Amino acid sequence: MLSLEEAKSCLESAGQSHLLQFWPELSEEEKGSFLLELSQLDLKGLKDHCEGAAQAAASPAASLDRDIEPVPPEFIGSVRRSDKNTLADWENEGLLQISENRVGVLLLAGGQGTRLGVRYPKGMYDVGLPSSKTLYQIQAERIHKIQELADLKHGSKCTVPWYIMTSEFTLDPTEKFFKENRYFGLEPSNVVMFEQRMIPAVTFDGKVILQSKGKLAMAPDGNGGLYRALVDNEVLQDMEKRGVEYLHVYCVDNILVKMADPAFIGFCVSKGADCGAKVVEKAYPTEPVGVVCRVGGVQQVVEYSEIQPETAERRGPGGELVFSAGNICNHFLTRAFLLEVAQKFEGQLKQHVALKKVPFVDRCGNQVKPTKSNGIKMEKFVFDVFPFSRHFVVFEVVREDEFSPLKNADGAALDTPTTARHSLLAQHCRWARAAGATLLDGQGNRVTGQDGPPAQCEISPLVSYFGEGLEPLLRGKTLPTPFLLDEKRAKELQDL
Ligand code: UD1
Repeated sequence: MLSLEEAKSCLESAGQSHLLQFWPELSEEEKGSFLLELSQLDLKGLKDHCEGAAQAAASPAASLDRDIEPVPPEFIGSVRRSDKNTLADWENEGLLQISENRVGVLLLAGGQGTRLGVRYPKGMYDVGLPSSKTLYQIQAERIHKIQELADLKHGSKCTVPWYIMTSEFTLDPTEKFFKENRYFGLEPSNVVMFEQRMIPAVTFDGKVILQSKGKLAMAPDGNGGLYRALVDNEVLQDMEKRGVEYLHVYCVDNILVKMADPAFIGFCVSKGADCGAKVVEKAYPTEPVGVVCRVGGVQQVVEYSEIQPETAERRGPGGELVFSAGNICNHFLTRAFLLEVAQKFEGQLKQHVALKKVPFVDRCGNQVKPTKSNGIKMEKFVFDVFPFSRHFVVFEVVREDEFSPLKNADGAALDTPTTARHSLLAQHCRWARAAGATLLDGQGNRVTGQDGPPAQCEISPLVSYFGEGLEPLLRGKTLPTPFLLDEKRAKELQDL
């Protein structure tokens, strides 16, 4: 830990002496924790960080829109446009890799969930399903099931390790939640939590913001902080030790996420890709999803906040959106590529500027809650490694089967707990009907799935990963809803 003198001199040379303005007013305990916080800062890089942030916020981002073009079709695999055999081949390849312990999943869970407005990590959210399962539990159970499916097919006893990137905001509650829930039946040593770095928020004139008299305003360094965090926490070594060669990286909020999706993994592996992105067709031009595209011939994602409306609106001859490959934050990355990123490219990752309202203490020591943006947060994005990939592919999936994110609180028009719940229930109704069941609503009428909110039909991931294996249980059955198909009910139905 730094001494006060050392901290003083470092801050002075970084032009940040104001941070110690209230030092004499702090209690001994506050002094201790403030010095610790300062010691953990990258003080050497602080000057560059602050000046860089102020400059970046002052200069308008260069418009990419002139050189933007869609990804050529030969690099895109599509679930909708592929025949059954091709899809089965990809899935088999993926299951084989999983059965050989070569696949891991990595959850990006360091975000603060500001839009959803909860004070706990988003993965702990219960969207109100009949089972009351949280996002974390659903994801854990899908890991169980995919391991089981791979084992059944290949007579193995495999493990899909679950790497979870957290931040200062989410590590403790996430760890506690997993412990309380006994890791949802997963082996704790196969759930590896690690923390991304935090960086200071800066004013428009390049000064680090004091959140209170003895505390800096810090924020996680964006989901692209992943690449530094992998090195900081020796995660790549852990992957190597386990023999994991392929990583499925995903964000926490998509209730339909296919954990270690064998079709996606199999597609990427069979194409020899080092990096891949899952996309859905964009629903409308202003939908808040990034666009997977090429800029100047190089693949990348142009984030929804950074694309010009005219570009987002462009349509082809058939009226379809030209830039329709919506990023759903599900990425495939090989360990070899991650190593290269860590060794060569991490320092070159783009910094994105976010202007935020950051609560601060003013020069007179008053606590202020700003009403307009006063601070700059610099973030790296997970997809900014795409330009460094040598063999990049895109995998287009069906939205209603794979993408329904939880971003906003109920009351908002889109991406709320209600829309997430409905997407999952509607999918499970489709699976049950496809397996030959007749579902009845509360009045005893047959559920058609045509209009209104979906019936309360929920199928545990422990029973079915993606609709498979349901026919022997459900064919010819008439089932009143609410209907919850968990392992116990599945056993009863099997014995009928
Ligand atoms: C993200 C994608 C966007 C995509 C959309 C689909 C990025 C940068 N943007 O947008 O292109 O269309 O999802 O839903 O990936 N996180 C961290 N650390 C951080 C910040 C975020 O781990 O410092 C995690 C979050 O916990 C979350 C994920 O990254 O799991 C995505 O973050 P979020 O801020 O929700 O991204 P979106 O703006 O929704």
